[in-house]
Amino acid sequence: MVDSDFVQQDFQRRLREIPPQGMGLSVDVYSPDLFDLVTKLKERGLEPVYLEVFKATTTALTAVRRAVPDMALAYHGEGLWITQPDVQESPFFQQDVSEMVTQLNSMQSLWLNHECATKQMAGYSFGTYLPPLFTRLSAEVVAANIATVQQAMDRQVHRADETAPLFLLEMPPLTYFSAGTIPIPQFFRLVTALVPCGLVLDIGHLWTVYRYTAACRRISLDRFVQQFLDEFPLERVVEIHVAGLACHESVDEPKTGEGLPEWIDAHAAPIPSILFNVLEQVLAHSNLVSLRGVALEVDTKPIAMIVEEYAATVRRFSPLVQQTMSRGTGVEQLMGLRLRSASVEKPMCQSHRQQLRDDYARYAQIISGHAPVTGSEWQDVAAEATGVTRYRTSYLPHEILHWGGDLAEMFPQTCRTLAERSICLNEFVTFWFRSPRPLTHTYDFFLLKIERFLEFVTERAPDIRSCVQQECDMLRQAYAQVNELEEPVMEMERTR
Ligand SMILES: [Fe+2]
Repeated sequence: MVDSDFVQQDFQRRLREIPPQGMGLSVDVYSPDLFDLVTKLKERGLEPVYLEVFKATTTALTAVRRAVPDMALAYHGEGLWITQPDVQESPFFQQDVSEMVTQLNSMQSLWLNHECATKQMAGYSFGTYLPPLFTRLSAEVVAANIATVQQAMDRQVHRADETAPLFLLEMPPLTYFSAGTIPIPQFFRLVTALVPCGLVLDIGHLWTVYRYTAACRRISLDRFVQQFLDEFPLERVVEIHVAGLACHESVDEPKTGEGLPEWIDAHAAPIPSILFNVLEQVLAHSNLVSLRGVALEVDTKPIAMIVEEYAATVRRFSPLVQQTMSRGTGVEQLMGLRLRSASVEKPMCQSHRQQLRDDYARYAQIISGHAPVTGSEWQDVAAEATGVTRYRTSYLPHEILHWGGDLAEMFPQTCRTLAERSICLNEFVTFWFRSPRPLTHTYDFFLLKIERFLEFVTERAPDIRSCVQQECDMLRQAYAQVNELEEPVMEMERTR
């Protein structure tokens, strides 16, 4: 059995190694150009205390480290799908962990932040984050996978002070629905009882939890946040994110007075003022005792908007953030604890793991429209089916056809020929989710689109295979060049 007191102490020991930061930015190297952004901020007399940088090539991250030698850096990881019961069996897991280790080392990162979400499950791939099943079994799997990643960091990642970065688990956004059998705060309580990880509380994600669970029909936002914070393991929150929200482009904005908007996580969009009220409420909560930083998440946002939003947020919140960070944690009493790794000592039994694999296979089939919305985890979703229907009929097709590479722009000649033959691109969405397939590459949605489109065209219009093959080759070549030269050739949308 896991000793939760020991887990808590181990967390405190690891937390001690992270100095309080303050207000920072969570950014992407390329979008917008990070060096441009830092320059523009400096011109306004603004210097974020820390930058949390999204996964990029190791060369790019090393260049960032060199460009801002005095600024603290943190790492926003990607691709370690720790919600998945079979992730450690993936042929690419070790490779992904090794890359993460290299990048954490080259950045001398404060921590590793990773979403509690996935873009791949049961042989199906998606372009944007899907939340885990909020169940007990799922929480155990998340904890076990985090323990493995933290152990790899303990062994292989070392900063100048000889300490290893801490795994921070970010509460994911909901995109219209959430499936599970336990409340989300309880899920994170189970995880943090099993592993000494920290947490990232994203204020916009919290808003989506209100919007896409029954809470928004029962209680006010203010009351929801209060109840949520009372139950969530707030004492483990090390970082807070604040980012924009917006209606997805496949969804119409509601008319004024028509209830809550169908906003989802949207980093390019302005941060709605309502989120700053929630931030105030979170910072005032007495359980928030481990905070080290508050970052605006601004990847893909225009630089001018970032500068304005950051300046205004620093003016309004800097003193409050400092006050919260200095609240004291009692950590001092825990000085001198032995260095020891906590881990989930009792491995999950095979039948439970298999059960969860089956649950995730059903999850993928339900959201892609290949299975009915049934099962204990899906009861609430079925009761308010507009959310999952919105995801399945608007959001997901848009993701496959347009997001992270628009098919008509990627394959102009092939798409023209398909249109002439009345082969609708929507058939590609059905093809994509027709059956699970083994992973052939570490996760890369752009390369996967190229691979799958080639297969689709080969099946539906075999005589134009050479045309699509040529377009695939050109795309792959350009993409490889981009990754080598570190210069974006194609506007690649990203989301977290
Ligand atoms: Fe976030």
